[in-house]
Amino acid sequence: MASFTVSRHQFPSDFEFGVATAAYQIEGSRYGHAGLSHWDTFAATPNNVLNGDDGSIACDHYHRWPEDLDLIQEGGFNSYRFSTSWARIQPEGKGSINQQGLDFYERLVDGLLTRNLKPYLTLYHWDLPAAFSNLGGWRNPDIVHWFSDYSQIVMNRLGDRIAATATFNEPWCITWLSHFLGIHAPGLRDIQATTMSIHNLLRAHGTALQALRADGHNNLGIVLNFDYAQAADESEANRKAADLYDAIFNRLFIQALTQKSYPTVLLAHLERYLPKNYQQDFDTIAQPLDWLGVNYYTRHVLEAAPNALFPAYQDAQGHLPKTDMGWEIYPEGIYHFLTWLHQNYTAQTPLYITENGMAAPDKVWEQGVVQDLDRIHYIDAHLQQVNRAIEQGAPVKGYFSWSLMDNFEWAAGYAKRFGLVHVDYETLKRTPKASWYEFKQFLSV
Ligand code: FCB
Repeated sequence: MASFTVSRHQFPSDFEFGVATAAYQIEGSRYGHAGLSHWDTFAATPNNVLNGDDGSIACDHYHRWPEDLDLIQEGGFNSYRFSTSWARIQPEGKGSINQQGLDFYERLVDGLLTRNLKPYLTLYHWDLPAAFSNLGGWRNPDIVHWFSDYSQIVMNRLGDRIAATATFNEPWCITWLSHFLGIHAPGLRDIQATTMSIHNLLRAHGTALQALRADGHNNLGIVLNFDYAQAADESEANRKAADLYDAIFNRLFIQALTQKSYPTVLLAHLERYLPKNYQQDFDTIAQPLDWLGVNYYTRHVLEAAPNALFPAYQDAQGHLPKTDMGWEIYPEGIYHFLTWLHQNYTAQTPLYITENGMAAPDKVWEQGVVQDLDRIHYIDAHLQQVNRAIEQGAPVKGYFSWSLMDNFEWAAGYAKRFGLVHVDYETLKRTPKASWYEFKQFLSV
């Protein structure tokens, strides 16, 4: 039987332990008069999502949320990170509000408070109203105001009960993965679209933060994802390849948000696609952050791709053990990013691990047992490294496990299971896994 070697006592007593989810991955987008999101339309187009899966039913959290919140509470967690769906709240994108959508989130937030769980809200975890796709989505500079209006609608209804709010989840995924690599909605592969989406998203973040502060809300931040960039060897070409990957994945957003610039290595390739006088937008973009969310899963080993177009790197396939996603397990990376952010970018701004976890091919055996021992090791190893970062002075205030339960894993459909709780997609039955029990034990001291 695997168990954590780390103990709750190693962390400050006010350290938050939570679980995370996202609206489109769990709710069921067909319920409650939600509008179509670009994930609905993307998933309805062949070969975008494995097996043609979509989020129309997902875990049916829209109806089963009380049971799900009970599982969080019984597990001993004290906080829950979730997102609101823009398409559920504004089915047409702009304008009219679906009151049923806001009512749903109000029931959810009140349900959390009743159970003594702190609500951590993400305003955008990828479900862009499909109405905006027709208008260019993140490529259209007007999205800055559409997003800011939506943020105010949500926060003016819920903000008085939210512990902390993030504008965006993982700008790298919203822009690079979705507009350059074409893997997530809207599935574009276009360098100009990518550059515009990066700049518009950052402006939307800053503009929304200003509007929310003016409305009297506080504890506002953003969630970024980080992926450790390891050069395949010490050769200059491969070190440059890893540096370029690091600039795109890890430095681009935090540098814009805290130092009012884009990495020089990227400007050489992207500046021509930015709006004229884009530098003037950094004052809006770099709003003070009350906290920063850090999502961390893996590392990549990079080598140069000779004669390739920008960005001329390729995956050199590292040799560490891999998860069911094929992602290498590299716990030291979480220590690296927490100390690196603290020392170079965010100083004393509180840091939260807002996602960390692994996919495994979990099965329910007789008597409802799910033996996800690899996940227990994974979490334990990462918690040890978070602890090390705290000892080095990084102001880390919480850790959210991805995810509460198995759910719609985007382009991988329902094939990849990240949950502490197993979901049977035929019956929608929830079964806590060994990792959930291990957390419960860890937190019960
Ligand atoms: C992150 C996403 C989250 C989930 C995990 C596995 O990139 O934020 O929704 O898909 O990866």
